[in-house]
Amino acid sequence: MTDLASLEAELAAAVTGAADLAALDAIRVAALGKTGSISNMLKSLGSMSPDERKTAGPAINGLRDRIAALIAEKKAALEALALEAQLASERLDLTLPAPPRRKGSVHPTMQVFDELTAIFAEMGFAVAEGPDIEDDFHNFTSLNFTPKHPAREMHDSFFFQPNDAGERMLLRTHTSPVQVRTMMSQKPPIRIVAPGRTYRKDSDQTHSPMFHQIEGLVIDRDIHMGHLKWTLETFCRRFFETEAVVTRFRPHHFPFTEPSAEMDVQCDRSGGSIKIGEGSDWLEILGGGMVHPTVLRNCGLDPDEWQGFAFGLGIDRLGALKYGMPDLRDMFSGDVRWIDHYGFSAFAAPNPATGLS
Ligand code: DAH
Repeated sequence: MTDLASLEAELAAAVTGAADLAALDAIRVAALGKTGSISNMLKSLGSMSPDERKTAGPAINGLRDRIAALIAEKKAALEALALEAQLASERLDLTLPAPPRRKGSVHPTMQVFDELTAIFAEMGFAVAEGPDIEDDFHNFTSLNFTPKHPAREMHDSFFFQPNDAGERMLLRTHTSPVQVRTMMSQKPPIRIVAPGRTYRKDSDQTHSPMFHQIEGLVIDRDIHMGHLKWTLETFCRRFFETEAVVTRFRPHHFPFTEPSAEMDVQCDRSGGSIKIGEGSDWLEILGGGMVHPTVLRNCGLDPDEWQGFAFGLGIDRLGALKYGMPDLRDMFSGDVRWIDHYGFSAFAAPNPATGLS
């Protein structure tokens, strides 16, 4: 009997002191499990004399019932505690202000990309693409740059280490190689624009080492400078969203066009900002001309049969001009304050029907 009393005291103390449900279950198994201390005692009843059993039976069964009740009680208490702790840890203060959620926006360069393709798509141009990493042939040679042509230096290119064939690939310095790729892979008539990334060793307020250009190319029979002029003037009026745009063509030199020209737009520079459609200053915005017969021949086209015009312009610079950004390098600095200020809504994709910007 003393054994039973001390076992009961020991078990009761253990149950009361159990720190968590796992500890309590371990105690239950040790006492009431298949080979637990109390279960073993119950098993021993079978080998007792009837007299012994008379007193031991109720005593052991009583102990089992009391310990089982104690465990159940403790279990309920521990479960209540666990629930309370969980509720406390998952508590939400609904009166707290929600943390600000960052709103995504469209980068101005991508906005201008979309504006340009919308305008040119409406004029019947398809969009073409080419690789950022170019070879000498597509970036220079096919475009009529002679091996020692100073324009190769002028472009200040990012060259890679020579490959196994001894050829130095480069990050394309302009989108003009896409002209060549298009002429070599498609049959005229051709009418494409090719927007994309371009790279040059240049960094100041109006230059960034990575920037974006759009190239235009039209190849057909009887194409002349008049078509180029109309296309670019129409483009300018659409892009700047005013009929008041005045443009002028100035003779220029590019190896891949003959004749070549640069186009300026009239603007007003007074008051620290540039306004298109008024004033008496001029701003150069693009280059273009008639595709050089040598370039046509390099691409497998007969210049006596096919003519065309090409043009190229800087997308970022055009965007900075339209949307008033003072420094081109900020466009690629990854500063969220800048993009918050200059970014565009993703829900207002430019299209000619509802407006561009
Ligand atoms: N590739 C020239 C540049 O990066 C831009 C250009 C000028 C492209 C005249 C043309 C063109 O297609 O006809 O400066």
